[in-house]
Amino acid sequence: MLNVPRRTDELYDRVKRVIPPVEWELFADDVDAILALKRRRNAVILAHNYQTPEIFHCVADIVGDSLALARKAAETEADVIVLAGVHFMAETAKLLNPEKTVLIPDLEAGCSLAESVTADDVRLMRRRFPDVPVVTYVNTSAAVKAESDICCTSGNARAVVESLGVPRVIMLPDEYLAKNIAAETDVEIIAWQGHCEVHERFMPADIRELREANPGVIVLAHPECPPEVVAEADFSGSTAAMSDYVGREKPQRVVLMTECSMSDNVAVAHPDVEFVRPCNLCPHMKRITLANIRSALEGNQHEVTIDPELAGRARRAVERMLAI
Ligand code: 13P
Ligand code: SF4
Repeated sequence: MLNVPRRTDELYDRVKRVIPPVEWELFADDVDAILALKRRRNAVILAHNYQTPEIFHCVADIVGDSLALARKAAETEADVIVLAGVHFMAETAKLLNPEKTVLIPDLEAGCSLAESVTADDVRLMRRRFPDVPVVTYVNTSAAVKAESDICCTSGNARAVVESLGVPRVIMLPDEYLAKNIAAETDVEIIAWQGHCEVHERFMPADIRELREANPGVIVLAHPECPPEVVAEADFSGSTAAMSDYVGREKPQRVVLMTECSMSDNVAVAHPDVEFVRPCNLCPHMKRITLANIRSALEGNQHEVTIDPELAGRARRAVERMLAI
């Protein structure tokens, strides 16, 4: 009998260090079907750095942090965009591509930060602090973006805040990101009190324990972590900045104080780096699976729609950010 290699075997080679063969057996069929569906529908899959490796390395066309996904979404020529990430990311892609079909494989893939603030809250802040510009983290609904002056991500927050040339800004909804940026700039920042349910759980004591148990370990922390955690880390930056740090500095041992799939995804490209693995799972990111990406492409679900008037105002805030 001929031993014909499956199309997906080559892909498995990429991820075999982080996905055991028995798991791959469960994934191979969906991977194969998704690759065919993408060609048939002229679709692209944008995957955030927190997606699992079989999505990130095997079916995604574009991967990155929220900023990179927004930038690439604005450039794509595909007819269909599948957002392997959370709902606010899919909304951002739709804002930048009003004519295209944008799909999110699970409508429940939310975000604790996006849920912590409403459009009414932003209007309230504006009344309380008239003339103070509102800088809104992209981890928010389109309705909140529509009430904002400009958006930011963890990758450009400081540049956005400083680009406004004012002494004081409102920054919402992530209190910790706001405080971490305030520590880097002279601009006064009025913060909202939203938190990321994944990053707020990291504590400075975790870092001390890690350093004791793993001598020489380099600690990278996402800026959604509490400021006391960021202060004890060796480096803080967006998910893309953490990944770039590993590629550039090639630490012998590293710990990423962020979502669990980050280490798996970065480890694939850096076999010589030891990744120490306490991490926290984002239940929203984990709602996206190969099976529901396949269903999304087969059944056009779930299509992201945004009221055109609101979308126009939200788009302005996102485009203003992208212009920086
Ligand atoms: P990044 O923009 O750094 O990828 O962060 C997005 C996010 O949701 C982190 O929790
Ligand atoms: Fe939201 Fe935190 Fe999950 Fe990122 S990790 S999507 S900020 S809940």
